[in-house]
Amino acid sequence: MRGRIGDLDVDFSRQRVDEEVWKSLEQLVEQCGVLQWRDRMLTGIHVNTTEDRAVLHTALRLPRSAKLVVDGVDVVPQVHDVLDRMSILARKVRSGEWVGFTGKRIESVVNIGIGGSDLGPAMAYQALHAYSDPQLSLHFVSNVDPADLVETLTLCEPETTLFIIASKTFTTAETMSNAQHARAWVQAASDGNSDSVVDKHFVALSTNEKAVEEFGIDPKNIFGFWDWVGGRYSMDSAIGLSTMIAIGPEQFTAMLDGFHTVDRNFAQEPWETNIAMQMGSLAVWNRDFLDIETTAVLPYSQYLSRFPAYLQQLTMESNGKSVRRNGESVDYNTSAIYWGEPGTNGQHSFYQLLHQGTSVVSCDIVVVARAQVGLGNQQDILVANALAQASVLSLGLNANQLAESGVPAELVPHKVMPGNRPVTVIMFPELTPHMLGMLISLYEHSVFVQGVIWGINSFDQWGVELGKKVATGITEAFESRDLVKNFDPSTQESIESYLQLRRSY
Ligand code: F6P
Repeated sequence: MRGRIGDLDVDFSRQRVDEEVWKSLEQLVEQCGVLQWRDRMLTGIHVNTTEDRAVLHTALRLPRSAKLVVDGVDVVPQVHDVLDRMSILARKVRSGEWVGFTGKRIESVVNIGIGGSDLGPAMAYQALHAYSDPQLSLHFVSNVDPADLVETLTLCEPETTLFIIASKTFTTAETMSNAQHARAWVQAASDGNSDSVVDKHFVALSTNEKAVEEFGIDPKNIFGFWDWVGGRYSMDSAIGLSTMIAIGPEQFTAMLDGFHTVDRNFAQEPWETNIAMQMGSLAVWNRDFLDIETTAVLPYSQYLSRFPAYLQQLTMESNGKSVRRNGESVDYNTSAIYWGEPGTNGQHSFYQLLHQGTSVVSCDIVVVARAQVGLGNQQDILVANALAQASVLSLGLNANQLAESGVPAELVPHKVMPGNRPVTVIMFPELTPHMLGMLISLYEHSVFVQGVIWGINSFDQWGVELGKKVATGITEAFESRDLVKNFDPSTQESIESYLQLRRSY
């Protein structure tokens, strides 16, 4: 079983499925209404039921000539209006026309955001390094750990740094705190010329214009998007501004085309050639029927080092749910746990468990055929390793084979490789913006298919809210000791320990 969309080759032949299973998965997809839910999503019906929102990341990559009326409004002109404004800004920064408070051109761009407002752009900057303007260095600050911003600022000069404050809500605590410190850093360096400094050094990507303006960013420097773009589905919205600045508007458009190419496959193709449908249903097969708990994402490309982290949010924030759309608890498993590292580094670390551990892990091996940099035959060695691992993970090596090859009897059990690990190999010619768009879109739709089969809402994330609220309460308790008693005994003790340690330094 092997699927293809353009140059994107997806090889399912090492999955534990035969013709019969394949047929059953097709039926499962049909019975769970995946086609109907897909059409609802693509036409703007509010499939994010708990937040009463449409889910339309696919509209972000519709061509200018398309039309899509949602809640009475054609969204395509809105999307292209923002893209056009982003292009103007990106060109100004890339050409040196955009200058900082001393009149010097921008040399560093710092994206301040977290989750979906960070992971996609950070991953894309690394992935598309070969396409990036070498005159600009991009940085991504997400963590509220002061080390993140402080260490990044040591690499930048205030007069030549542009900050992109990326936050859909513009209320996320980590982002707001980093943005305020960044603003103070530039203002301190500018000798009190503070108003125009913010204009020259800050732009915002957000749906919350009011909060952005309150922060002091000029409305003309706000790039908006819509509540129908989920954070983890937003790297091709205004949230992709850093990507556009790095690779330029033309290549950004090529990336959007890549997304759209796979969108079309997902929207139009029957089961036999609908790769995301197949991939999503296979993920359900592995999780629920084979009871495989985790999926390792193994990109054989250093440029895709952040791809596993990006996929963690996409998959687990979307489908890490245990309640169906109607509020009933599920009595089956939902999302696998996604994790991974680039090959070959992982081989010298955790692959031992992949091959001989007691947990079976399904593996997505991503292979890029042509390297963007050359060093002797290193690329051949890299790809040989990827293919070797795919083969060994699936075929293994049994006791007879080992005995026949002369392995001493006492070592045979130690060397047996059970094999039969489900592997998907995704291969494409080169890591271009277009290809990256295709790859991401494939996973987005696969995640959607899984969510529909499980009957859950893949587009909310209520599970992350409580922690944020409690963290705010604890931060307040650090300052007002009488609030400490509001917490459980373990937390009270931890707060006291922290305050004690904090004091002793
Ligand atoms: O807390 C989770 C989350 O809401 C993600 O879904 C989102 O991508 C991230 O926080 C950042 O949110 P925002 O873009 O609103 O700052």
